[in-house]
Amino acid sequence: TRTPVNVTVTGAAGQIGYALLFRIASGQLLGADVPVRLRLLEIPQAVKAAEGTAMELDDCAFPLLAGVDIFDDATKAFDGANVALLVGARPRTKGMERGDLLEANGGIFKPQGEAINAGAADDIKVLVVGNPANTNSLIAQQHAPDVPAERFTAMTRLDHNRALAQLAKKTGVSVADIKKLTIWGNHSATQYPDIFHAEIAGKNAAEVVNDQQWLADDFIPTVAKRGAAIIEARGASSAASAASAAIDHVHTWVNGTAEGDWTSMAVVSDGSYGVPEGLISSFPVTTKDGKWEIVQGLEVNEFSRTRIDASVAELSEERDAVRKLGLI
Ligand code: NAI
Repeated sequence: TRTPVNVTVTGAAGQIGYALLFRIASGQLLGADVPVRLRLLEIPQAVKAAEGTAMELDDCAFPLLAGVDIFDDATKAFDGANVALLVGARPRTKGMERGDLLEANGGIFKPQGEAINAGAADDIKVLVVGNPANTNSLIAQQHAPDVPAERFTAMTRLDHNRALAQLAKKTGVSVADIKKLTIWGNHSATQYPDIFHAEIAGKNAAEVVNDQQWLADDFIPTVAKRGAAIIEARGASSAASAASAAIDHVHTWVNGTAEGDWTSMAVVSDGSYGVPEGLISSFPVTTKDGKWEIVQGLEVNEFSRTRIDASVAELSEERDAVRKLGLI
């Protein structure tokens, strides 16, 4: 039997946590033959609720679940972690400026980065889900100098999946027929879902769609503003779909992308495609043997260039803002 993989989940008592933990415990995160031990981190006021969720996890009798431990201390929660899902974050409340939001999240992601640096396993892989995800990931990474920078990622897989669904609907195909779609930039309204390199059943997606107006006025804003549309309809933000995307992100990172396809992940830039080095920005990415690589050599047309640049500019501004606040 294999040694269990330690998976630390922050914000475990939140709505994404509730949709996520059962899927991890059932084997969907890492594989149907990989036992997992869950290490849940919550703020003290939410520990009791996390305990309730742990009771339900027990009651599922998942054969792969080796144990659940609950902490309100980051150093303990990340001790020995092989995979860390940083979901808990400070949401934007009414009247909160962007600077306040970044500062409040710096107070969460700085100590979590330090705790990862201090005690996580050598093979630690970090996915930040909590918003502003790219910049929170950057803050954590900057406080974990002993961990290779490429182990810190942020989630744009939900945007990727949303784009797949919209494109499949428009063209009347199954999402499984679509390959090589890309989300570029920030997980925010400036993100750019790019279909110019995508393929639908082997044909170029932009040519199959052949509708520039739909692309500019419908597809891109629908994907970028989907989060707000879910809140409007559901009265609460995306939770099950966000959890599902987190499962996809880590599963793909660990188990690899399919031949002839790629995925979207926000990863540390090496300067590819004009994205300033060090920013955690979404790129087309292939994965193999637990490592990611940015897809190289794609031609970026003018339509795409403007949109990528705008989203990346926002990421640079966020980085400058957290620098000014002394958070990195
Ligand atoms: P939620 O408010 O239901 O749950 C958040 C949980 O985090 C709460 O239980 C809270 O007690 C906990 N928490 C707060 N500070 C913490 C800390 N320092 N350590 C540990 N736990 C802490 O929120 P929900 O709906 O689960 O969303 C979580 C985050 O994910 C939000 O920031 C949301 O904006 C973000 N999100 C990101 C998406 C993406 O695509 N990247 C998609 C959807 C949501």
